[in-house]
Formats: sequence, C-alpha cells, structure tokens
Amino acid sequence: MPSRLLKTLFMLVILSFASSREDGSFVFNGFRGANLSLDGFASVTPDGLLLVTNASSRGVGHAFHPKPFKFKSDTAPGTTLSFSTTFVCAIIPMYSYIRGLGLVFVVSHTTDFSTALPTQYLGLFNFSNNGNASNHVLGIELDTILNAEFQDINDNHVGIDVNSLHSTNSTGAGYYDDSTGALQNMTLASGVAMQIWVDYEGVNMQLNVTMAPVPMAKPNKPLLSSTINLSSVMTDSMYVGFSSTNGLTLTTHCVLGWSFKMNGIAEPLDYAKLPPLPRSDSKHKLQKLAIWLPLASCALALLVVATVVLVVKRRNKYAELLEDWEQEYGPHRFSYKELFRATKGFKDKTLLGSGGFGRVYQGVLPSSNVEVAVKRVSHESRQGMKEFVAEIVSIGQLRHRNIVQLLGYCRRKGELLLVYDYMPNGSLDNFLYDETRPALSWAQRFQIIKGVASGLLYLHQDWEKIVIHRDIKASNVLLDSELNGRLGDFGLARLYDHGTDAHTTHIMGTMGYLAPELAKTGKATTKTDVFAFGAFLLEVACGRRPVEPSAEEPQVLLLDWVLENWKRGTLLATGDPRLAGDIFPVEEMETVLKLGLLCSHPGPDGRPTMRQVMHFLDGDSTMPDLPPAYASIGILSLIQREGLKDYMMSSSSSVSHMFELSGGR
Ligand SMILES: *[C@@H]1O[C@H](CO)[C@@H](O)[C@H](O)[C@H]1NC(C)=O
Ligand SMILES: *[C@@H]1O[C@H](CO)[C@@H](O)[C@H](O)[C@H]1NC(C)=O
Ligand SMILES: *[C@@H]1O[C@H](CO)[C@@H](O)[C@H](O)[C@H]1NC(C)=O
Ligand SMILES: *[C@@H]1O[C@H](CO)[C@@H](O)[C@H](O)[C@H]1NC(C)=O
Ligand SMILES: *[C@@H]1O[C@H](CO)[C@@H](O)[C@H](O)[C@H]1NC(C)=O
Ligand SMILES: *[C@@H]1O[C@H](CO)[C@@H](O)[C@H](O)[C@H]1NC(C)=O
Ligand SMILES: *[C@@H]1O[C@H](CO)[C@@H](O)[C@H](O)[C@H]1NC(C)=O
Ligand SMILES: *[C@@H]1O[C@H](CO)[C@@H](O)[C@H](O)[C@H]1NC(C)=O
Repeated sequence: MPSRLLKTLFMLVILSFASSREDGSFVFNGFRGANLSLDGFASVTPDGLLLVTNASSRGVGHAFHPKPFKFKSDTAPGTTLSFSTTFVCAIIPMYSYIRGLGLVFVVSHTTDFSTALPTQYLGLFNFSNNGNASNHVLGIELDTILNAEFQDINDNHVGIDVNSLHSTNSTGAGYYDDSTGALQNMTLASGVAMQIWVDYEGVNMQLNVTMAPVPMAKPNKPLLSSTINLSSVMTDSMYVGFSSTNGLTLTTHCVLGWSFKMNGIAEPLDYAKLPPLPRSDSKHKLQKLAIWLPLASCALALLVVATVVLVVKRRNKYAELLEDWEQEYGPHRFSYKELFRATKGFKDKTLLGSGGFGRVYQGVLPSSNVEVAVKRVSHESRQGMKEFVAEIVSIGQLRHRNIVQLLGYCRRKGELLLVYDYMPNGSLDNFLYDETRPALSWAQRFQIIKGVASGLLYLHQDWEKIVIHRDIKASNVLLDSELNGRLGDFGLARLYDHGTDAHTTHIMGTMGYLAPELAKTGKATTKTDVFAFGAFLLEVACGRRPVEPSAEEPQVLLLDWVLENWKRGTLLATGDPRLAGDIFPVEEMETVLKLGLLCSHPGPDGRPTMRQVMHFLDGDSTMPDLPPAYASIGILSLIQREGLKDYMMSSSSSVSHMFELSGGR
C-alpha cells in the first residue's frame, strides 16, 4: 500500500533524523566526567570547570569534543551545514591591570596544534601558517590584547578569524540591549561569567556572534553578523572546541558550560547546573592591595584608562614597520606599544642616558614585569636593514654572563628600538668618573676586566660565528647587580657601516679606541677590537679617558702617557689616584697596564688574541716583554691626530663620540 510505504519512509526519515540529532549535538552543563580531548595546560577541575589554560606563563591549552562532526552537505555539494553553539566562559586575570590573552571558540579539521605558538598566536597558528587557506580553521576570538601586527581594533574585542589571526570582522565586546537597541560595552577580562552564542546558517552563509552577561537571555541583535562562505574552510569532518593562551602574564581561561548542535539551535544551558567560578586568590590579593594602597590602585586604574583612551584615539602613535622578511623573527619583535607602555611613554623620568647611538630608557614590560633597557636608535636608511636585523637577532641568541642580553627589537619609521636586560648599576664610566660615587676597588676593577675579556673572547672565538664588537669602551660596559662587567651595544656600529659612498668614509668607534689600520681601511676585525680593549684596560687601571682634550700635554693621549712612563720605568705611577689606600697585588696592575700597551700595538699582528689575553690575566702564561721597537713607534698615527683636532674642536664633554673622516682618500 502506497500510503503505508510513505508512512514507513516517513518513520525512517524521522528515525535517521533523530539519530543524526544524537550525533550532531551535545550539552555540557559543567564538564564533570565529560569526555573531552585536552592538551597543553587544559584541564577539568573536580568541580567540573573546564580550564582551557590555567594561570601558567606562556601556556597554551586546547579542549575539543573528541568526535568530529560532519560539516558538509551531501545533498548540496559545496554547501556548509548550519551549526549553532553557546557557551558560558570567564577570563580571569591574576592582576586586573595586566591582561593575559584571549579565548577562542574553534572549528578545525584537526585537534593537533602542536606547532602553534602561544601569546598573540592564540595557540592556533604560527608565523609561517598564519593566513594560509590550508589551515581549515574558523575561530571566534575573545581577544584581550591589541596586536597591531594583526590589525586588532582594540584590546577588548570579539572577532571572526578565518584561517588567520587577522580577523575578517571584529568589534568591541558588548551587546545590543533589546529594549533600547543601544550597545552596552562589556569587558572580556573581567573575571565575570559571560555567555557567547555562535550561529551559522549554511544556505545564507550568515555567521552571527552574540554575547551577554550571565544570566541574560540571548539578545535579539547579534554583536557581529557577517556573510562568509565557509565552504573552503570546512572539510567534511571538523572538530569543535576551544583554544587559549597566556603570555608572560597569568590568566585563567575557563568554560563553565557548552552546548552545540549541527543543523539546529543549540540547546540552552542550565545555569543552575554550571560549576561555580574559582574563588580567585587574585581578587583577594587585589582587595588587600586596594585596602593597603587605595591611592596606588587609583593611579594605576587612571593610567590604564588613560592608556586605553590614547590607544583608541591615536593608533598611529604606535605605528611600526613590519615587513614580510621579519616574520621569522616574531618572538624577537616587541610591539612599539608594549615598549611605549614599559617606559611610560619614553618619559624623561625613565631616561637612563644617551650615548653615541641614541637614548636609553628604563622600563618594565607590562606583560611580564621584566625590567628592561630600551635603546632608541634613529636610523633613516632602510638599506642594509634586513641584514642588520638578522645580525641583531643572531646576537640575541648569544648567551654569556658577561654580555648584556639583547631581548629583541622593534622598528618604526626612521627608528630602531633595541630591548636589553636592565643593568641596575649602569655603565662603568659612571663609576670611573663620577666623583660622587665611591671609587671601585682594584679587586672590583680586576673582576670587571676579566669579565669583559671573557665576554669578548666568547664573541671572537667561542661562539659559532665571529662577532666583532666594534665599540669597546668603558661606557659600553655595564655592571650587573654584583658589579660584574657586561659588554653591551655590540654590533650597533655596523648599522652605520653600510652604504659607504666613494667620497666619505664613515668610521664608527670612539676616539682613542680606534686602531690605526681601522682609520685607513675602515674594516673592523677582531684585532681592532683587541686594540680598543687595550685602551679600555688602560682606562680602567688609570681611571682616565683615552683622550682628555682638556689635559696638558703629554697627558692628552693616555696611551702615549702610559708608554712614556713605561719607558722611564715608572709604569705604576699611572694607576688611578683614587686607588690610593687600597691594598692589592701590584703585579696585577702591572699586568693590566702592560697588557693594555700590548693590545695597543700599532700593527694588528703585534696584538695578542683574546684567548692569549685571558691566559695573561689568569696568570696561566707570562706576558711577553714589550718589543723594544714598540717604544719608538709613534703610537697614534697621524690620522688619529688629525681626527683628534676635529674632536677637540667639535666636542668638549661628550663621552661617546662618532667621528667622520672625510676627503677623497
Ligand atoms: C597548570 O597545569 C599544568 C599542567 O596541567 C600544571 O603542571 C601546572 O602546575 C598548573 N599550574 C597552575 C598554576 O595550576
Ligand atoms: C571518549 O571519546 C572517544 C572518541 O569518541 C572514545 O574513543 C573514547 O573511548 C571515549 N572515552 C571515554 C572514557 O568514554
Ligand atoms: C607552523 O604550523 C604548520 C602547520 O601545523 C607546520 O607545518 C609548520 O612546520 C609550523 N611552522 C613552524 C615554523 O613551526
Ligand atoms: C600553505 O600551507 C601549505 C601546506 O602547509 C603549503 O604547501 C603552502 O606553501 C602554504 N602557502 C603559503 C602561501 O604559505
Ligand atoms: C563602548 O566602548 C567604545 C570603545 O570601545 C566607546 O567608544 C563607547 O563610548 C563605549 N560606550 C559606552 C556606553 O561606554
Ligand atoms: C543573524 O542575525 C540576523 C539579524 O538579527 C538574523 O536576521 C538572522 O536570522 C541571524 N542568523 C542566524 C544564523 O542566527
Ligand atoms: C561586520 O559586522 C558588522 C556588525 O554586525 C556588520 O554590520 C558588518 O556588515 C560586518 N562586516 C562584514 C565585512 O561582514
Ligand atoms: C562558496 O565557495 C565555494 C568554493 O570556494 C564555491 O564553490 C561556491 O559557489 C560558493 N558559494 C556561493 C554561494 O558563492
């Protein structure tokens, strides 16, 4: 009977629909006992709270429904099926004024995100696959960081990400009030539970994202509504879940309940069954802080508000230069904004000093509380920049306890910013020449000298590549908290080395530290570094600058003066008068002074290598006698004397000086 057949068919359809419904949906009112596929820092608490990341630094976490869903229509090939999901989540920062990163609802063809990066990559992509259509990832990001790299609109937004962190559509977090139609702002990283709805209608290709505070009913007007053809994004079977990540700051990203459904409206969540939010210690801490430091918190809040206003109003204030070739340096790049914040807007108050290459500011990275020194180097020429940045990044990989760690860089128009570890005791020249500070003892000086020698040996011989410092001098030696000497600023001179034209030879370095052959050839070598190190040795032992324009002849050139004394047999008379009263083995000072002369040998072949220098300083080998011929050679070549004239005319006080030899030589 046809009617019976129809009825049976109808029943079959209903049944298959029912079973596919069973396949195509789930509801978690809390996650206790839920079968989820978790990785990284993701976990489910005994209460049933899903922590996608816990408060761990640079952590990444993912949580996926273990079984994939079918997202492609069989009947209409090329069409993506409709789906709908809703979840209640909270982003709980450890400290309200330092934000972690966001939480993302993800639809992905894989659950393997092992090559994805944390921080701004949200645990979804890395710098090589970000934006690649073969990712097959749809993300709805709740983003709490303004990342200029991905054209983020602000640091509190909801965005639709298709295979890329550069959102196809995004807007500030909030909801449209049903009664008034007005947009109400919401704060994502507030630690308060909020509900998100994501609905996709396959035929119209309409994707809506809606959010509201819990337990408000779903607002009628979605926050975001985009028409997106997802058919090339979705593969036949796709996983649904969450991804989130922390930077150096500690934030917990948690999901309390989650409902999902293919081809229909996700079942509402039962708020009564959702687990409670963690009682956050941080709130406790904050409250305590607020009790003890109400003014400070107020000031901080004002600072944050002011910064946010600034961000919104003057985006281009933070504009940076970022080119394709820099992508591989992602981890070494700092955003200008972060550096701006770290140094309180490069306020004079944070200025540590200025040298030949630029001004140096002290700062605290907002994301990690790490103290840094930020050097602003003005640089107009883009020529050689790629090469230079490659060198900077490779220098960033140097690790030695006598080298100031370079943490990364940032580029702006006409400017390069370099981020270093902060050295609390500043540079050595301040200790040597600032009469208001107590003099360094000989033991301290000798330790600094040995430290610098060992750092330079590492650069010259012990690292995989030969690195030439090019500007060794007391003001480029920084002192850490234990007064160990650390070399800073290496390689920077190179920035000015490129693009020498036929008429002008720019030579970088500082008067009195320049090897004679450098002035002739312009080519820096390990031996020109050794020459500068020799001048540095004399500087530390004698407590005098290599060139003292205001001094009386024959004391203008330290090297000449020490040499004179050596010839007369009164070498030790050149020691720093501030060491009077200090008791120490004078042989050490004698070694240092003689070594200073040896390293200052006018011919590069007459100078020792840094390894030999180390042996002499450690007393492992005895110093050779200075060659008799040495005494008869005018140490500073005419060229230096010519340069000196310019120097004396153009500069009276500057510590670090860049000079230029011009003329068609
Ligand atoms: C975060 O989770 C990881 C891995 O589950 C664990 O080792 C770590 O102790 C947790 N950290 C905190 C602060 O809970
Ligand atoms: C969790 O789900 C996966 C995939 O469906 C399944 O293989 C596994 O047996 C389930 N585990 C439990 C404990 O139910
Ligand atoms: C980026 O992720 C892709 C896809 O997982 C992977 O093939 C690639 O090796 C990763 N690249 C890096 C630099 O980690
Ligand atoms: C996208 O990724 C695929 C596979 O990983 C790779 O073959 C392709 O070159 C990538 N495309 C771009 C533009 O990077
Ligand atoms: C909501 O935030 C935006 C900036 O994100 C701001 O322009 C607007 O004034 C805010 N609205 C309210 C009602 O606070
Ligand atoms: C998206 O929002 C629009 C506007 O409110 C509405 O007309 C449409 O039905 C919604 N689509 C989905 C899939 O929810
Ligand atoms: C982005 O979302 C807004 C708000 O829903 C909507 O008006 C706009 O058309 C969307 N833009 C695109 C490109 O989808
Ligand atoms: C959506 O994209 C697919 C492939 O990218 C294409 O075949 C299809 O025609 C598109 N659908 C519409 C309605 O444009």
